[in-house]
Amino acid sequence: MRIALTVNGEPREADVWEGESLLYVLRERLGLPGSKNACEQGECGSCSVFFDGTLVCACLVLGAQADGHEVVTVEGLADGDGLHRVQEAFVEAGAVQCGFCTPGLVVATADLLRRRASPTDDEIREALSGNLCRCTGYQKIFDAVRLAAEPA
Ligand code: FES
Ligand code: FES
Repeated sequence: MRIALTVNGEPREADVWEGESLLYVLRERLGLPGSKNACEQGECGSCSVFFDGTLVCACLVLGAQADGHEVVTVEGLADGDGLHRVQEAFVEAGAVQCGFCTPGLVVATADLLRRRASPTDDEIREALSGNLCRCTGYQKIFDAVRLAAEPA
């Protein structure tokens, strides 16, 4: 089937098989490899995107379900050539090792900070509890979120 959706503010179309995930459509049909595929089971958060403004795991959404909807991926967070402040904070805090979890964490952090400009430590832990990182031990990630957040 052919779907038409808005991705990162631009109208896009793709021919998809009804059973393939939105993550597959983004990466393989639309040339947007920023969202990562680490588990394909909704466990790791590496595929986090905004779907009509709501944070979702793109591996758990069918591509066909995106027909007529709006998706924003990690590629769509940056403002032109300028990084999103969450992306800058991850770089500055050294919160990236292999980087596989990073796009999902950046999107999840952006979601948190637009809801809570100055989140508490518990709110940060809760918001990022669906994003797994096997490298950093999470402290640097936590530091990056603090850096991107407004001072309490
Ligand atoms: S790839 Fe979607 S949650 Fe892991
Ligand atoms: S930096 Fe490697 S999984 Fe998080």
